[in-house]
Amino acid sequence: MRSTGRVRAPRGGDVAAPRVPFVDLKRQAADLRVELDAAFRSVVERAAYTLGPELARFEESFAAFCGCDHAVGVSSGTDALKLALLAAGVRPGDDVIVPVNTFIATAEAVSHIGATPVFVDCLEGSGLMDPAAVGAAVTPRTSAVVPVHLYGQTVDMDAVAETASRHGLAVVEDACQAHGARYKGRPAGSLGATAAFSFYPGKNLGALGDGGAVTTRDRAAAEAVRLYRDHGQEDKYTHRVVGYCDRLHNLQAAFLLVKLPRLTAWNEARRAAAADYDSALAGRQGVTVTERSDGSEGVHHLYVVMVDGRDEVRERVGERGVDSGIHYPVPLHLQPAYAELGYGRGDFPAAERRAERILSLPMFPEITGEQRARVVTALAEATA
Ligand SMILES: Cc1ncc(COP(=O)(O)O)c(C=O)c1O
Repeated sequence: MRSTGRVRAPRGGDVAAPRVPFVDLKRQAADLRVELDAAFRSVVERAAYTLGPELARFEESFAAFCGCDHAVGVSSGTDALKLALLAAGVRPGDDVIVPVNTFIATAEAVSHIGATPVFVDCLEGSGLMDPAAVGAAVTPRTSAVVPVHLYGQTVDMDAVAETASRHGLAVVEDACQAHGARYKGRPAGSLGATAAFSFYPGKNLGALGDGGAVTTRDRAAAEAVRLYRDHGQEDKYTHRVVGYCDRLHNLQAAFLLVKLPRLTAWNEARRAAAADYDSALAGRQGVTVTERSDGSEGVHHLYVVMVDGRDEVRERVGERGVDSGIHYPVPLHLQPAYAELGYGRGDFPAAERRAERILSLPMFPEITGEQRARVVTALAEATA
């Protein structure tokens, strides 16, 4: 299903057609090859591998992009979440509210610092965390809530902020899929106490390996993340806290500096592709497109539809030369890794129903109209 080789088109004649990939990272690297090579050579010539000038420049540019005063580059989105939680004041023994419909890293980061995830359901139409569920999940130990801007759409942050301020919770955004998304005109990453971004290669802004960043408008929080990411080091060999080795590599920052100026155009291309899918799929029997969240100007990290009989549909779409994904097939409360929390099937029905029906279609900035037409045709035939 994930192969990207050439297949013989099984429908519509005998022309060999290339598969439509789910994402096309080779294409983006080819477009940027000269600049990426130059960035690589420049870093290697100076042997500037850790905490170098490219990292400082990237942090400044990314902070500005997110409408924040501070961005701190770290080793991954997971570590960004961990350090964003610590910097927002979460401590071992605390409870942290996390949606079940997300990548497991959202909950893992909570567990990594000795806190406990407390799960809440999603809205069935959009897949985003249900803000109305947050208040009921608050315990005496709850110190934070993590809204996840899933698929590149922002959560209803006014509703989350209202509940958070009523219960004295820190809001830590998981913006790992939402570089450039806006909520009521304000950028993702600037909407809570702290926020986490991932630069995993397939993200809207992807490094050539792992990477992440914490953004914040709070100087003290930014300083805490800087301290934690570098062994708690204040001055050379003076360690104020027990920290981590969680720095963003300077080489990755150099690559990200090549890509960041293109991000707005790439997000526009994703929006155009999503609008095209929307109109091609509107009213189509058996296919439900993801509901748009009020106030959200999304960046379509993923384009997700719901279909009945998803596994068969996915197989048939694959047979027609179209790759696809499922984000995510098992909600967090049903993951073996979190069995000890004692949740069971039926606890979060909206997420459970979505997990049976969701299918992510190919989505990347360079996707062509011809590729999208093939996706739509394959989906129509597979759901007929
Ligand atoms: C919603 C969400 N949170 C967290 C992460 C973790 O990011 P990373 O893979 O860079 O650790 C990801 C990406 O994989 C993600 O999609």
